[in-house]
Amino acid sequence: MTTPATPAHPVVELREVRKEFPGGSVAVDGVSLTVAAGTVFGVVGHSGAGKSTLLRLVNGLEEPTSGSVLLDGRDLAALGERGLRPVRREIGMVFQQFNLFRSRTVLGNVLYPLRLAGLDRAAARARAEETLAFVGLSGHGGRYPEQLSGGQRQRVGIARALATRPKVLLCDEATSALDPQTTGEVLALLRRVNRELGVTILLITHEMEVVRGLCDRVAVMEDGRVVESGEVYDVFARPRHPTTAAFVRSALHSAPQGPLLERLRERHPGRLVTVPVVDGAPAMDALAPLLRGHGVDFAFVHGGVGEVRGRPLGSVTLELRGEEAAVEAVAAGLAAASGTSAAPAASGTSAASVTSIASVAKAGGVR
Ligand SMILES: Nc1ncnc2c1ncn2[C@@H]1O[C@H](COP(=O)(O)OP(=O)(O)OP(=O)(O)O)[C@@H](O)[C@H]1O
Ligand SMILES: [Mg+2]
Repeated sequence: MTTPATPAHPVVELREVRKEFPGGSVAVDGVSLTVAAGTVFGVVGHSGAGKSTLLRLVNGLEEPTSGSVLLDGRDLAALGERGLRPVRREIGMVFQQFNLFRSRTVLGNVLYPLRLAGLDRAAARARAEETLAFVGLSGHGGRYPEQLSGGQRQRVGIARALATRPKVLLCDEATSALDPQTTGEVLALLRRVNRELGVTILLITHEMEVVRGLCDRVAVMEDGRVVESGEVYDVFARPRHPTTAAFVRSALHSAPQGPLLERLRERHPGRLVTVPVVDGAPAMDALAPLLRGHGVDFAFVHGGVGEVRGRPLGSVTLELRGEEAAVEAVAAGLAAASGTSAAPAASGTSAASVTSIASVAKAGGVR
């Protein structure tokens, strides 16, 4: 989604939130973030980073030790348990293990929050059927969760969360229990929930693929803190924190490293260069003229170009073949083009330029 002309109001806002559990474990340590209405915000982090605690703070299941959590401008701590009840209805929760009632049918699961919210039987039933149709489960209302596949169960979980028409959907590892294809289907459904129903989504995940496929903005958490945040494309193209860079590598054909790089060097004795492909960065444009100009040939040895948020992103690693001086000149030209590619980040904070220059220099040194 592109940034709207007028900034949407925040649906969820955390201000310097800290959560310390009895015994001294600090799960969330001074987190501030804003989820704008109509957007999808992802929080990514390794196990124990504090992601689930963060979600529990947003739905009011945990109270912050300090700082505040605001939902649509209302400070949850100031509402009290009674005031919190109607506010909770504006929040839908989707869980990794679906958390369906096994003894209720699909329809019964979706009806449950509607009856709880006080809808009469007929209105609840109509709403539940409508929501099941939206998630693609018309005609499955009479089945029981154990008769469904994992992906279908999660679609019931999403229908149940959506039934009360929440403003915001909180997803805790909603696809982590699913295989890649089913993950893709559930992500596509969540995208429709956002685009067609206008529901704001705050999701937590340890998979960067989920962020790439669904989110507008992302925050990277480590040890209870947000170490980096921003627009998804920018974070993918130029991660600044090492943890972010590692997450990004897991989802992209990045510059080869470690044993893979060693194997490539054994197979390809010539100069290896990795050229980043980043929207608006000239390194890739410089490649063909440099090769042609210096009469250098190449072999394509690793990498690829994909899309993040509809914009190209990736890297390609080439073995340059030709006269040593000509190869030098091409490598130097590419390093210069990469170095200037990410204008403000050219000092080395851009992963795109760092991977390229590092592999150019390193490959040259080992050769
Ligand atoms: N109720 C609790 N009491 C004490 N410590 C807790 C409690 N809940 C969470 N923690 C601690 O807080 C830290 C963050 O836990 P949390 O469950 O939020 O992490 P997470 O990022 O969701 O991890 P995972 O990816 O494994 O689900 C962990 O060190 C955990 O042990
Ligand atoms: Mg968790």
